[in-house]
Amino acid sequence: MTFDLVIAGGTLVTAAETIRADVGVIGDTIAALGHGLTGAARIDADGKLVLPGGVDPHVHLDMPVGATRSSDDWETGTIAAACGGTTTVIDFVEPDLGGSLAAGLAARRAEADGKSVIDYGLHMTLRRGDAQTLDQVPEAMRAGCASFKTYMTYEGFRLNDAELLAALEAVGAAGGLVLVHAENDAAIERGRRKFMEAGQTAPRFHPRSRPAPVEAEAIERALALAEVAGCPLYVVHTSTGRGAEAIARARARGQRAYGETCPQYLVLTDAEYERPGFEGAKFVCSPPLRPADNPPILWRLLAAGGLQTVGTDHCPFFYEGQKELGRAAFTDIPNGLPGIEARLALLYTFGVGQGRLSLNRWVEVCCTAPARIFGLYPRKGTLAPGADADIVIFDPDREVTLSRAVLHERTDYTPYEGLALRGYPVMTVARGRVLVEDGKFVGAKGRGRFLARGLS
Ligand code: URP
Ligand code: ZN
Ligand code: ZN
Repeated sequence: MTFDLVIAGGTLVTAAETIRADVGVIGDTIAALGHGLTGAARIDADGKLVLPGGVDPHVHLDMPVGATRSSDDWETGTIAAACGGTTTVIDFVEPDLGGSLAAGLAARRAEADGKSVIDYGLHMTLRRGDAQTLDQVPEAMRAGCASFKTYMTYEGFRLNDAELLAALEAVGAAGGLVLVHAENDAAIERGRRKFMEAGQTAPRFHPRSRPAPVEAEAIERALALAEVAGCPLYVVHTSTGRGAEAIARARARGQRAYGETCPQYLVLTDAEYERPGFEGAKFVCSPPLRPADNPPILWRLLAAGGLQTVGTDHCPFFYEGQKELGRAAFTDIPNGLPGIEARLALLYTFGVGQGRLSLNRWVEVCCTAPARIFGLYPRKGTLAPGADADIVIFDPDREVTLSRAVLHERTDYTPYEGLALRGYPVMTVARGRVLVEDGKFVGAKGRGRFLARGLS
């Protein structure tokens, strides 16, 4: 049999095993794994790791935030993702208040289609917990959005406990999954007001206005409400050891709960907020970066299965002109960090390279588990006959110092500036076509397709 493309001689790493084999691709799909495969095109992967394309379950491209928008659109953001070895992203629909979920989905797809260079899915945001909104949950599921985002804070998005419980019941009854941004809104509002009234307006007061118990309490509460409602719950961007331990305990009790953390909570700390002048604004995200005793707990639980996934929560802004909107008040700094590109490499250097994650667990948390949890597996997230030919060739010895210059994200800074990495993607293939070669995007705008997702 002759394949369209053979990736030859690499070390294949999946969540389950590490083997030497060739990958044979026909069209969009992996057709065979084996030895001595021949094809019309051949890529030599000797000495390299060959992985399933990364699946980033949490990104915000071209997202309205207050008076501005996140600075990567669907084209620039997905090119950056592909350059970092991610071949699938899941973003969010944020329907207009008063508009239907279906209209929100159509509008969001219109923004992505024709631009996204990689396949994408969409979580549906529930901005209200009233009957009129929740009655639309089954229709949204039929349209391919089987996961529903809820917020316990943020004006215009926050659901109170009664509304969150109703949302959990409706989604649970329909067979879907609820994602939750878990922070205690009352405590945040009180903290923000206290600092602002005292004239403490600098970025360093952002983390102080939402300390660890603010997240931990809300995670515990969301878990309890999900248990009452009988709905699976996915906690996004878990930043604290306390919050992560709550998720791990719920799982140990048998609850269908999943925890995501992000590279920024694993490799950065709240010391960044002490930078001179307004520089700390570059690190303002919610939940905030945490004291140095948190990352070791997150790493431990990520390795041991208490946490399941690593998403980026990529929500980039330019420092100049966007983060600067909050020069007079930290409460006006747009929340979010860039990070869509370096996820695989950061987790390799600081996870695998430092003995915190096995190779297989690295692939599991970055590729396989997000695909499984969000209804994309085995089409995405693994290397197997029948799967989409989304493949990353990763050089475990490539040394890269992260900087704006090496990344493709549309911002004027990276929070990871100067970090020295060993191990970096050198080629990304999506549905059988080479998208990125040696850090250069060679794919086509708009080739990415919407992934309608059901849950099994
Ligand atoms: O600060 C953050 N994380 N911004 C993005 C929106 C969210 O809360 O996930
Ligand atoms: Zn959030
Ligand atoms: Zn987010």
